[in-house]
Amino acid sequence: MNSKIVFFDTTLRDGEQSPGVSLNLTQKVEIGKALADLGIDVIEAGFPITSPGDFEAVKTLAKEVKGVTIAALARANPKDIEVAWEALKFAESPRIHTFIATSDIHLKYKLKKSRSEVLELAKSAVKYALSFCSDVEFSAEDATRSDWEYLGEVILEVVKIGAKTVNIPDTVGYTVPMEYYKLIKFLVEKLLLAGYEEVLKKGDLRISVHCHNDLGLAVANSLSAILAGATQVEGTLNGIGERAGNAALEEVIMALKTRKDFFEKNLGYPLEININTQKIVPLSQLVVKYTGMFVQPNKAIVGANAFAHESGIHQHGVICERSTYEIINPEEVGWTGSAIILGKHSGRHAINFKLKSKGWKFDDEVLNHIFERFRTEIKDILKKIDDEYVEGILIDLFSEKEYRYSLISSQVISVYSGSLKPIAQVEIEDKKLGKKVSVGLGVGPIDAAYKAVAKALGYSFEKNDKEKFLKLIDFHISALTGGTSAEGVCGVIIENEKGLRTAGLGKDGDIVIASLKAFLKALNRLEILEEKGKELKSQVLSFKSRS
Ligand code: KIV
Ligand code: ZN
Repeated sequence: MNSKIVFFDTTLRDGEQSPGVSLNLTQKVEIGKALADLGIDVIEAGFPITSPGDFEAVKTLAKEVKGVTIAALARANPKDIEVAWEALKFAESPRIHTFIATSDIHLKYKLKKSRSEVLELAKSAVKYALSFCSDVEFSAEDATRSDWEYLGEVILEVVKIGAKTVNIPDTVGYTVPMEYYKLIKFLVEKLLLAGYEEVLKKGDLRISVHCHNDLGLAVANSLSAILAGATQVEGTLNGIGERAGNAALEEVIMALKTRKDFFEKNLGYPLEININTQKIVPLSQLVVKYTGMFVQPNKAIVGANAFAHESGIHQHGVICERSTYEIINPEEVGWTGSAIILGKHSGRHAINFKLKSKGWKFDDEVLNHIFERFRTEIKDILKKIDDEYVEGILIDLFSEKEYRYSLISSQVISVYSGSLKPIAQVEIEDKKLGKKVSVGLGVGPIDAAYKAVAKALGYSFEKNDKEKFLKLIDFHISALTGGTSAEGVCGVIIENEKGLRTAGLGKDGDIVIASLKAFLKALNRLEILEEKGKELKSQVLSFKSRS
């Protein structure tokens, strides 16, 4: 078999058939160009007969996306093929992809045709498509529920006519890896017996696989088919597509790359996979953005948690040596940033790693104190623990005495209906400038209170010439217990004009007060970071050296 695996992406055709997904032309072209950059060999740009939008998309991609084969889908009839060609004809490397179902279920209920009629239609379609374009792919829809002998006959006949790729779709996601392996092997052997060994070796004839995910087996089935001799694999980014979707191409690619050793050993020849895998995650995120179909966090390769380690044991392992718990380097697929996520299972190693990555140096005693406060004050309270909360503990340990602001009193009035606005008054002790009093109006009482504090201390959430700009990066409130008397916890992250970020946590039976406590804590820490962050980071912090 040929060493090269041809990757055929159908995100823009089968993927766009996902319920609720509709991409516009600009988005399709952007995704098409990104697929070409990724190194995809064939992009199925649409099904031109189905709508003017699909026709335009194929035509535009054919004209604008270079260095890749552009395919258009057509049923096995002259009109579909003519329209597909009309849309495709400007492509650098065009491919007509024609299909007809071969299973008895489809023949009886959908096509209402006999096996010999369908065979004739398949042959005529391939012949007609070849009159326009030398690169023709034929798909036997619902192949996995077709009679194998009949399927084999159809495949041999279309190959005889000149189809260069024969696709064996598992249209309804029905097959399982071992069965699909046997089916592909059966077809390979048929082709070998018919004398196609040389063309298969050269890659001038390819068996392709196209799996749907109804049983969650699309990727496993595709890989199994490759082991049986398939050399083209079809799928979509993020696995989007009809019903449960198609095989996720990024998973197939990374499985082949990561377990190349296994595939090569079992195939008995080297595999060629020409994909720029670092482009996978950015492209996956582009597809999410345009389709609105989110990727589950635990999805392989492109899910937000695919490389996130939260448990203390795993974090320790990965910090010591990445390969202990990672089979792929996240950067290899385009992830940036740290894979260590602070959470309730994190241990000292993760905290040490996080703070050291931010430039802090400290001894073991300090680390123990930070960990103890992390354990007792943070870990059971916050669902998502941003690094700034842990850094805040360190700043407290070495500078709390110098904190400049404290809340003396506050009063907040909520408003229901009418044109009045919620109003807050705050009285703050500023160690440098004395008592400050201010008033704020807001959308709600917390908004009003934050505006009052910001104004009192010379900050603003809007850019202006007189006050220091402050950006609210994150704000959330949750109840520690149930009931109306529950204690509220507020977490807030703020950022100043220079990009310095700090967090604050506040607890109180009154959620406005909890929010104010969190905000003042974050502001105090921010001022310390601004004034002496560099000095603190220039030394190894220890309690002995604390002033
Ligand atoms: O799933 C399927 O059978 C298809 C064919 C048109 C290739 O998408
Ligand atoms: Zn499909």
